[in-house]
Amino acid sequence: MREPRRCKAVITVSLVPSLLDRLAEYDVTVLSAARSDEATFQTAMAEAEGLLVSSSVAVDRQVMAWAPRLRVISTMSVGVDHIDLDSARERGILVTITPVLSDAVADLVLALMTMLARRIPDAMRAVTSGRWNDVPFGADLAGKVLLIVGYGRIGQAVAKRALAARMRVQYVDSRSDLPDIEAVGRVAELADGLREADFVSLHVDLNAATRNLMGPKEFTLMKPTAFFINTARGGVVDQSALVRALTEGEIAGAGLDVLQDEPPRLDDPLLRAPNAIIVPHIGSATTETRNAMAHCAVDNLLMGLRKQACPFAVT
Ligand code: DGY
Repeated sequence: MREPRRCKAVITVSLVPSLLDRLAEYDVTVLSAARSDEATFQTAMAEAEGLLVSSSVAVDRQVMAWAPRLRVISTMSVGVDHIDLDSARERGILVTITPVLSDAVADLVLALMTMLARRIPDAMRAVTSGRWNDVPFGADLAGKVLLIVGYGRIGQAVAKRALAARMRVQYVDSRSDLPDIEAVGRVAELADGLREADFVSLHVDLNAATRNLMGPKEFTLMKPTAFFINTARGGVVDQSALVRALTEGEIAGAGLDVLQDEPPRLDDPLLRAPNAIIVPHIGSATTETRNAMAHCAVDNLLMGLRKQACPFAVT
């Protein structure tokens, strides 16, 4: 009988034993290597046919050059801005994603909008500083206009929640093949949507076309009472323009899960900007969602190594 062909894969995330067993069952030898340990990572990559990473690991041309046998990059994320897709395409390397986090991210968007609208940080400070009766009056979500910038899976999940909160929902997206959700309107131009919106939430990929999509001009178009939410990628926003918009009152506040530099420097002026609620890239950080992402990433890796069609391939 022919021996099954063993494959080697570098895995930079920690996987539960059942997923490691699953890889072993399919004859995949796991070469665990933290990206921070450059020498070990490079040595492991020299033998790897597969690579499973999270979005915090940059997979650039150099990393791919270390891996002459690399055939599959399975990222445990929906974003792929950490991977040099052009190099992967040139090399015929399959890149796959885990689009199973829309609900978790959409929940966070609603939480950030609610925290800003209801002034939850001010209310919490009132309690801890002995000002219980100093009630901060906020604003209702109901009746307010939400502009969703990028109407893919996550944007649509946000729209459904916002409709349930009785918001008026609009989206802007250059794609034409998007599903219609009743009561969600489309605006043709970002500028028009920004002028009207009480809340703006970003849901676009980071790429050459979307880098700094929100810059000084865009923040100026927003209402001074409007709130800005970013759970997509920090690079979609010109961060100095955002600091200025918050400091000069061009907008009323921001809820941010992603920043240009993660982690930020502690002297980053954004950390001290007024009315900015900043959380450390926790969009997908629930136990259920991270488990689902890990399962999906392992399945994708196996499909790629076994040359099966993968529904979540991006190259
Ligand atoms: C994603 O999957 O892209 C999320 O932002 C987590 O990195």
